[in-house]
Amino acid sequence: MIDISFSKSALPKSGALVLLVGEDGGADLLAGADEATGGAISRALAAAEFKGKPGTTCTILAPGAGLSRVVAIGIGQHDALTQRVAEEAGGHACVALARDPAAAFATGGISAELGAAVALGATLRAYRFDRYRTTERAEDKPRLTKLSMLVANVAKSKEAWAPLKATADGVFVSRDLVSEPPNILFPAEMAERCRALEALGLKVEVLGPKELTKLGFGALLGVSQGSAREPRVVVMHWNGASGTSTKGKKTGRAQPIAFVGKGVTFDTGGISIKPAGGMEDMKWDMAGAGTVVGLMATLAGRNAKVDAIGLVGLVENMPSGTAMRPGDVVKSYSGQTIEVLNTDAEGRLVLADVLYYCQQKYDPKFMVDLATLTGAMIVSLGHEYAGYFSNDDTLAAQLFAVAEETGEKLWRMPLADCYDKQLKSDIADMKNITGRPGSAITAAQFIQRFVNGKTWAHLDIAGLAWSSKDTATTPKGATAYGVRLLDRLVSTYYEG
Ligand code: BES
Ligand code: MN
Ligand code: ZN
Repeated sequence: MIDISFSKSALPKSGALVLLVGEDGGADLLAGADEATGGAISRALAAAEFKGKPGTTCTILAPGAGLSRVVAIGIGQHDALTQRVAEEAGGHACVALARDPAAAFATGGISAELGAAVALGATLRAYRFDRYRTTERAEDKPRLTKLSMLVANVAKSKEAWAPLKATADGVFVSRDLVSEPPNILFPAEMAERCRALEALGLKVEVLGPKELTKLGFGALLGVSQGSAREPRVVVMHWNGASGTSTKGKKTGRAQPIAFVGKGVTFDTGGISIKPAGGMEDMKWDMAGAGTVVGLMATLAGRNAKVDAIGLVGLVENMPSGTAMRPGDVVKSYSGQTIEVLNTDAEGRLVLADVLYYCQQKYDPKFMVDLATLTGAMIVSLGHEYAGYFSNDDTLAAQLFAVAEETGEKLWRMPLADCYDKQLKSDIADMKNITGRPGSAITAAQFIQRFVNGKTWAHLDIAGLAWSSKDTATTPKGATAYGVRLLDRLVSTYYEG
């Protein structure tokens, strides 16, 4: 984790310096560095034909004035600088600085909010999951640990940074969970890690096999029954709106907003077992839950003025002598029966019980679920947009708007009776699979049968939960897709 600090804009006397350079020049951003180096920076940028386009960087070594290096980061047109481009600029800087232990970053020429976004981008890009590397040499590790942001207004910048720091922390909670190997992170262990977040002020309840059996979570338990690892359902509460009033008295409780995550800590497919090649990817199958946990940590970390609950259904999907068979009929918590024709379509069974429980017990304003639910979603939209489904146009429009802003992109998919009909079973209320055509949609239809008419959206994040390549603000691996998106949904529409 990079340590971010803010100080009044002034040229550092040594070390590395990062400058934001616009296509429209932006001499104000050079923080006097060009003068101090006798024009060495502008000469180097001209020689490199550096034009300040977003996504471009130029490193100048030993330009004079005691500086070890200057990194110029292109930000396009100054006036058009968005939060997202600012974050990406921070991410690019972080990569260019990987060899420097500390650097100064001149952001005096842009607003405190955009400067904080730059710091967020650098922080997010610097994430590394290296818990299981024991032999890496120190000189091979990235060295950047300190970024000193040079700003026009220190107080304003710190104020803008505080919630973004909480966002970065929440994203890291999620990336850590999703990156863990499946022998370490199984349902009970993940529940313990959720419980540890009580330190942030969350209230955390954990339901184990006894409670789940008593409640009648037959669909979730059916998935879990082949595994030696016990299932868990975790409910995290953040009471930021109703908590306690200034007089210390409990204020009235409004309807909370709810987030629900698929947490299959490993998905072998069960008896309908998956091919061996690439099966290791299925450790990521708890990413929906990972996002919900990271989101709750973010809301608590920035003291969001909202009542929110996060529920995760945690199971391991394994083949064994006790595993569910293709053809089994299970009774869900809602009472509806399901013919399980493919044990690899397990995510929807988990979500069915958790979503029904969520609306029944907490009567939320809305529910948003996240799940690495179908390979078909990846076929539809690849690894760029997540697909989403909703029974409510207002919620759908809000999600689309914050997706565009945060760059965690979403594209809406249809729900319709003609898809729902395909779930008809010969012997139960429904079956858990349909034919391959449109099967991300029929999976969503299945889930809709368990929301009981509540305002709801389903995000199929199968293509976005992890990335096989580095992007501007996300190193390859777990992305924590959805944490920033849903945090922004809350801050824009559901606080205050
Ligand atoms: N977790 C998988 C979906 C998945 C596949 C996510 C690849 C990310 C990458 C899910 O449980 C699953 O196995 N879905 C099946 C459903 C099918 C059996 C109807 C699928 O998509 O093939
Ligand atoms: Mn599966
Ligand atoms: Zn799965």
